Amino acid sequence: MITHPDVMHFLAHNPALSVSALEAEARLPKSTLAKAVAGDRVLNAKHLSALFPVLVKYGFKEHRSSEARVISVINHKGGVGKTTTVINLGCGLARIGKRILVVDMDPQGNLSQSLGVDNPEAQVVDALLHKGALPLVSIMPNLDLAPSDLELAFADLELVQTVGGMNRLKNALRPLRKNYDYIFIDCPPALNIFTNSALVASQGCLITLQPEASAMKGLNKLFDRIYQVQEDINYELHIEGVVFTMVDRRLKLHQDMMQDVINSLKNFRIFHTFIRSNVTIKESQVAQQDIFSYDENSNGAKDHMSLAQEILTTV
Ligand SMILES: Nc1ncnc2c1ncn2[C@@H]1O[C@H](COP(=O)(O)OP(=O)(O)O)[C@@H](O)[C@H]1O
Ligand SMILES: [Mg+2]
Repeated sequence: MITHPDVMHFLAHNPALSVSALEAEARLPKSTLAKAVAGDRVLNAKHLSALFPVLVKYGFKEHRSSEARVISVINHKGGVGKTTTVINLGCGLARIGKRILVVDMDPQGNLSQSLGVDNPEAQVVDALLHKGALPLVSIMPNLDLAPSDLELAFADLELVQTVGGMNRLKNALRPLRKNYDYIFIDCPPALNIFTNSALVASQGCLITLQPEASAMKGLNKLFDRIYQVQEDINYELHIEGVVFTMVDRRLKLHQDMMQDVINSLKNFRIFHTFIRSNVTIKESQVAQQDIFSYDENSNGAKDHMSLAQEILTTV
């Protein structure tokens, strides 16, 4: 009927609903729902059946799509953890048993290289230019990659000039969505045709931010772009939230910057999990491995698994 993740997902997407009012209306013991939202407890069958009619009243629909949710990982800047998030969130969810596709939309091809795919023969650009099927490489159980390299960069102009060029990725993903639970698109560090194509193809976008002095710079442009795509092309697109990456909580600068971002982005969700700065993550990428295969006990592995759990229960 309704599951704990369904409730978390519904509440995350309806932030105007009061948790305490819902709790009271469903006659749940005080704080039950608040604790569940904070990640401190899981709702049991009794709670769920009491909540179900209340949430239906506020717009809950029983059947979530059985097709993959497509999520772009985006920031106009480079070096803020987009590719790292796609790799390790993807691998984390695959390890939990979710079927994951990761798509490399950055001509730098870092995602593909980090997953051990150099110079891919068939790649995303072929599907975009020739409307063929998206080429898939199996990386591990439950995890496939649609790879790219520098070839993608040369498609830029052709895609811009082609009628409907921006829809090509969306169309290429359509037949694949039924085969996966989540599809993550790794975006380039620019608001170009590749990022636009990713946003057009997505139901959600996840923004990675490194809490450095320049974190907020240009963020307005990024939000403007997302709103533009939402308004003109893809009304489904939802900003899932902001994930802080490469955080060193001992640094006052990082603490201050995170607080600044939280204050400035009051209307957006900031994920509870933040990814600590961890040299093992860098090492794992040089070794062309995900963080779990490289060092399961590292902070990097723990943080990405925690993010995977947070995504799973709320996105
Ligand atoms: N949490 C982290 N701790 C330490 N290094 C990191 C972390 N996340 C990413 N890196 C490193 O920072 C660099 C940039 O990260 P990357 O994910 O490629 O950013 P983007 O895709 O936004 O350009 C890479 O060398 C990566 O290994
Ligand atoms: Mg990258």
